[in-house]
Amino acid sequence: MTDRYCVFGNPIKHSKSPQIHAEFAHQTQQALEYTAEEAPLDGFAGAWRAFVDAGGRGANVTVPFKSDAFALCDTLSHRARRAEAVNTLIVGGNGRTYGDTTDGIGLVRDLAYHRVGVAGKRILVVGAGGAVRGILEPLLAEQPSEVVVVNRTAAKAEQLAHDFADLGAISGGGFDTLSGQFDIVINGTSASLSGDLPPLPDGLFAPHAWAYDMMYGAEPTVFLHWAGPRGAKLLDGLGMLVEQAAESFFLWRNVRPETAPVREMLRQSLN
Ligand code: ATR
Repeated sequence: MTDRYCVFGNPIKHSKSPQIHAEFAHQTQQALEYTAEEAPLDGFAGAWRAFVDAGGRGANVTVPFKSDAFALCDTLSHRARRAEAVNTLIVGGNGRTYGDTTDGIGLVRDLAYHRVGVAGKRILVVGAGGAVRGILEPLLAEQPSEVVVVNRTAAKAEQLAHDFADLGAISGGGFDTLSGQFDIVINGTSASLSGDLPPLPDGLFAPHAWAYDMMYGAEPTVFLHWAGPRGAKLLDGLGMLVEQAAESFFLWRNVRPETAPVREMLRQSLN
């Protein structure tokens, strides 16, 4: 029987994951099936169990089920425990469910792909929701000189800084606490979805700085649109999407796919 994988979400129709994993499977000559599955909003655990009973070997998990996936795992990776979220489920021995999260490593790999060094750099992370919590451990593991987290609701940024303080130099607060320049500014808010721009001051970017938006689209996001004229080099979240998928694929199949052709394919499909 062909090994089955899927991505769970709601809605899930527009997910690019089936396309990405089909390409990885083709490239690495793996026989597998990967579909998009819409789980009911109040029934994620049941949907996962039914998938496993039907022969499912693993799954990706996206909005809004990453916390539900976290809650149902029998075993969790260290980074998933830190993220309090799971985007990759794996069926282990005795049908037990192992959970990991590959979002953060996806970001770090994407930065490395573009030769954006993190070590010794001063990094600003904008936002303090689930998406940001998911990237902090892999980011701090790269040993930046400092990570500053700012958020509209300052208390959430302060909490994140507190929760990750054992992993490196990190501080958190509201936008009014911002000072100095940054080598990399990462937008991890969902503000671009509503066409909004977080209230960032001018003069934020150090010379040769990068602006990174974890979101992506056919057009530059509002944040990247703002950052370009202020001198930053720009990256959107498309590469992170491909790299997190590659890491999930590796966890399931123990084979590392090439991401460059898939990046190219997706970029073209956006236009
Ligand atoms: P996600 O899983 O995408 O992180 P989330 O946990 O709901 O979703 O977090 C959304 C993040 O985007 C939060 O940091 C939120 O700020 P608040 O904590 O103050 O709500 C931020 N955000 C959303 N819309 C925003 C906007 N228009 N301006 C600034 N920040 C915004």
